[in-house]
Amino acid sequence: MTVEQAIHPKLSVRGATKVYNTRSGDLLAIDRCSVDVLDGEIVSIVGPSGCGKTTLLWSMSGLHGLSAGEVLLDGKPVTGPNPDISMVFQNANLLPWRNLDANINFPFEIKGIKPDRIWIDELLNRVGLEGFGNRFPGELSGGMQQRAALVRALSFKPSVLLMDEPFGALDSFTREEMNRLVEEIWLDTKTTIVLITHSIEEAIFLSDRVVVMSPRPGRVANIHTVPFARPRSMEIMATKEVFDLTNAIKQEIVGNQQSRYPADRAAAPSQSVQTAAQ
Ligand SMILES: Nc1ncnc2c1ncn2[C@@H]1O[C@H](COP(=O)(O)OP(=O)(O)O)[C@@H](O)[C@H]1O
Ligand SMILES: [Mg+2]
Repeated sequence: MTVEQAIHPKLSVRGATKVYNTRSGDLLAIDRCSVDVLDGEIVSIVGPSGCGKTTLLWSMSGLHGLSAGEVLLDGKPVTGPNPDISMVFQNANLLPWRNLDANINFPFEIKGIKPDRIWIDELLNRVGLEGFGNRFPGELSGGMQQRAALVRALSFKPSVLLMDEPFGALDSFTREEMNRLVEEIWLDTKTTIVLITHSIEEAIFLSDRVVVMSPRPGRVANIHTVPFARPRSMEIMATKEVFDLTNAIKQEIVGNQQSRYPADRAAAPSQSVQTAAQ
């Protein structure tokens, strides 16, 4: 980490707190989460289901407001959708009636800006989808659709890419392929990436740091540094170091879940806010 990176993180989440107002009362989803993501860093977020990972990621994107706290991009508050921040979701969300090219062009049409065709073709090449521009989503496998979603997200040349369990619906071989692809794209572009994943192996393979969240209300329970240089090989993933790190993170997630009720009660900011697990 350079001094410049440490002083000026790319994305800074400070005291992020989100209360959802539901019909059965207020629900504290995330509570005072703070994390700095450095320029060009890949950070993964792991934690039990329902702990607020998606809530945290959406707040980073500016698409969801926070109840308290703030998100800064290059030191400036993110208060709404930002062209510098792109998202990829678990489902590719391609429009079935548009072919691949038309799907990738769609956000540009909405925004009334001209797509950079050379860059998009380069991306399609990079993900192995060259020549598939006139195919419709129904003609593509799940992995291909997700690669298309990745191209669409990167077509704007965002400086930050947020991914919410992007490969969760894919089989494990396709998932490994996608992980290698993300690493290759990162080696080319050095895009800052925040990735939510259920797979600790995926988090370790891809990340510089892994953030472990507590059960809801989600808090930052721990942050692990992954010390391997890139490109990372599958051999690294078979080392004892990775095995130990994987287990440590798993234990933290399970251990945190076991102590959820006392911890939630002790740290609840207000009695009117629900903190029990759903
Ligand atoms: N729009 C919403 N309205 C009300 N509650 C929500 C909303 N979105 C998420 N939640 C609740 O907030 C908590 C955290 O959800 P989420 O951020 O989706 O967790 P995760 O992604 O870790 O599974 C859950 O209890 C969920 O039910
Ligand atoms: Mg989620």
